Amino acid sequence: MKSLAILCQKGGVGKTTLVVNIAKIYSKNDIKTLIIDLDPQGNTSTYLDFDKNNENILTSQDLLLGKTEKEIGFLEENLGIIPSNETILKFNNEKIVGGSILQQKLKSFVFSNFDIVIIDTPPTMSSLVQEAICASDFYLIPTKPEFLAIEGVSQAMKFAKETISRQISISPIFLGVVLNQVDITRSSYIDFEKELEYLLADKLINSKISSSAEVADSPFYLKTVDEFDEHSKSKKEFYKLAKELLERMALNEKIIEQSYN
Ligand SMILES: Nc1ncnc2c1ncn2[C@@H]1O[C@H](COP(=O)(O)OP(=O)(O)OP(=O)(O)O)[C@@H](O)[C@H]1O
Ligand SMILES: [Mg+2]
Repeated sequence: MKSLAILCQKGGVGKTTLVVNIAKIYSKNDIKTLIIDLDPQGNTSTYLDFDKNNENILTSQDLLLGKTEKEIGFLEENLGIIPSNETILKFNNEKIVGGSILQQKLKSFVFSNFDIVIIDTPPTMSSLVQEAICASDFYLIPTKPEFLAIEGVSQAMKFAKETISRQISISPIFLGVVLNQVDITRSSYIDFEKELEYLLADKLINSKISSSAEVADSPFYLKTVDEFDEHSKSKKEFYKLAKELLERMALNEKIIEQSYN
């Protein structure tokens, strides 16, 4: 089992959109996937039409309290979800002492049944995001291609590095920065991309996600891009990204057969 945290303290950059759509693509391709939502907003559940207040299902609050007796919720055979709601807010300012609770729990038997765990995080620099970093083998930072976003990316990278340096027992790998909501018709885009390539080199993920009305509307229709028509540009882009992330995580034994070129 490998775990991937998606983080950025900037709001609305596409963290949840990436978590949900990538998870759905993996699960559809026989990769046993678990979403853990560490955001009090609980957006992953809303997007996937899952009841985040069901008391019989394991929530991320339970997980952080070290209680793992409850059952993991499943959206489909290969897609589990540990939802979050506002009760998790109380963990937001707690200091992580002596290692992450989540990290310890993820090592347990129940979680080893999954191939990949993808963690959604809130738009903050808080203990909840630190928990996500500490529990992860990899972390990924999404951003919009905007000038001020460069600052947001470097702040997120610094926050992750500082979190990692304070914990001796962890060494998550920075997978890279992924550009979301790209609009290549904007004159600043090429310059922005060049700047990021210069700053990030191979840590700029090659696959990029364009801004599209169908992606923006998909939570409303409770649809993920995997359900889009096979000619959909967004579907192609998300599949490409899902494959590139597997390669970058060296999970090459997991194969996504579908190709939408
Ligand atoms: N590629 C895209 N094209 C169009 N709209 C998008 C795209 N990606 C995300 N969005 C939209 O942008 C909004 C913010 O996305 P999302 O909720 O995934 O961001 P977030 O980083 O998780 O936000 P928060 O920080 O509040 O958790 C949503 O309405 C989403 O539908
Ligand atoms: Mg979100």
